[in-house]
Amino acid sequence: MRHNLSDTNELIRDRRTIAPEKYSSRKVHREVVEEVLRNGTWAPTHGMTQPWRFKVYMGGGLKSIMGQMPLWYKNYVSEKKFSQKKYDKLVARGEKCSVVIAITMERDPNGRIPEIEEVEAIACAVQNMYLTCTAHGIGALYSTPGYLYTDEVKQFLGLEGDDRCLGLFYMGYPEGEWPKSHRKPLEYVTEWIEG
Ligand SMILES: Cc1cc2nc3c(=O)[nH]c(=O)nc-3n(C[C@H](O)[C@H](O)[C@H](O)COP(=O)(O)O)c2cc1C
Repeated sequence: MRHNLSDTNELIRDRRTIAPEKYSSRKVHREVVEEVLRNGTWAPTHGMTQPWRFKVYMGGGLKSIMGQMPLWYKNYVSEKKFSQKKYDKLVARGEKCSVVIAITMERDPNGRIPEIEEVEAIACAVQNMYLTCTAHGIGALYSTPGYLYTDEVKQFLGLEGDDRCLGLFYMGYPEGEWPKSHRKPLEYVTEWIEG
């Protein structure tokens, strides 16, 4: 055994999504964010294209993205579907989180690797980030609202061509109990073919 398996199992199963509304006012330090991102970059990557690009908004930089979020939502939803409650939640969210990271994908200029595999590599990176947050007792939320995929957001993030925003990653120390979750039993999701 190269690593402590019971710690590894516990870390993986303890990983939880925790939204900014549950964060305390304790700030996440930059060194911790760097560690989270560095572990993200150790994800598997087909052809070593390393397609992940991160834009970190924290401190004074938070306002620039969090101030836009309610407007992106408003511009995106139809009048009929618009929810004032959701809008207000996005306004308040700006006050609650101490770090938000835009997770973006830079396409390999030669297009050697199918896009879906670059997306998959980034999903692996996000899992590494989540696990590192869990080890620190930091709550994280991988958020993918529909408006993230609009040209308005693409422009804001300075993305070009086939580059895409794949989500936002919020981080913060949670207030109160660390949440629990559950999964379907392995038998339900696995088929064994053993000859
Ligand atoms: C690709 C992807 C997109 C997600 N987008 C959202 C989202 O937009 N909003 C949200 O609340 N959670 C989002 N989540 C988190 C899931 O809601 C969460 O993983 C699920 O409820 C299971 O909870 P757990 O992460 O605590 O195990 C996303 C997760 C993934 C993998």
